[in-house]
Amino acid sequence: MGPQGSGKGTQAEILAKDLGVPAISMGALLRDEINSGSEAGKLAKDFLASGKLVPDELVLQVVQSRLNQPDAANGWILDGFPRIMAQAEMFLRSIQPTHAIILEITDDQSLERLSGRVQCDKCRCGFQLKYVPPKNVGKCDHCDGNLVHRSDDIPEVIKERLNIYHEETEPVARKFEEMGILHRVDGSGTIEEVAAEVKKLFV
Ligand code: AP5
Ligand code: MG
Repeated sequence: MGPQGSGKGTQAEILAKDLGVPAISMGALLRDEINSGSEAGKLAKDFLASGKLVPDELVLQVVQSRLNQPDAANGWILDGFPRIMAQAEMFLRSIQPTHAIILEITDDQSLERLSGRVQCDKCRCGFQLKYVPPKNVGKCDHCDGNLVHRSDDIPEVIKERLNIYHEETEPVARKFEEMGILHRVDGSGTIEEVAAEVKKLFV
């Protein structure tokens, strides 16, 4: 968990390698549906573009189908789900998560990180123009792909996403806190510093 740009995707990928389980990003699953032109993607498209939450029924259908894949049989890291209380209640009916991790940064840090986030249009590798810069402007370090901004990383849409985060997602963090599984991690250090703090939760 954590606000926009706090490093959920970045840290989930690092932890997934350490733990040998898949990192499952709810946003990435929805973007895959959109890119594939599926019915779910057509329904989700306008919500992502405007920074609004996709309806619960659709989100649950997409995440459930991903969690049923064989690579998730022995565990998984979920990034960006559950994001509101109704999703958390449905999720907790059938699943008992062992850890909930919240990466904490300020709204100013969110805006700064996301304004410089770019992603390869081929291999999807992520960069940040100030903190994780590519070797060549506009080009991926790992393949011949082009680096593009996410269409929802524009200031008005980021602000809408942050408002929803503070109003709807913070209560979910409090629910996990009551359950005794919430770990608050300072997300404002370097990627390596944050990864080291997260790793400590699993030794
Ligand atoms: P989603 O894709 O999950 O977006 P988000 O929550 O807004 O989070 P981000 O992906 O923007 O940030 P992140 O925390 O992953 O940061 P990252 O690691 O990339 O969701 C998108 C949309 O899908 C939603 O708006 C909604 O429409 C829909 N959706 C998703 N889940 C849903 C749900 N459950 N219910 C309904 N709708 C849903 O890092 C950001 C940048 O900073 C990168 O460039 C990275 O390189 C850099 N960086 C990372 N860590 C550091 C660091 N420590 N120091 C410096 N730079 C860093
Ligand atoms: Mg992400």
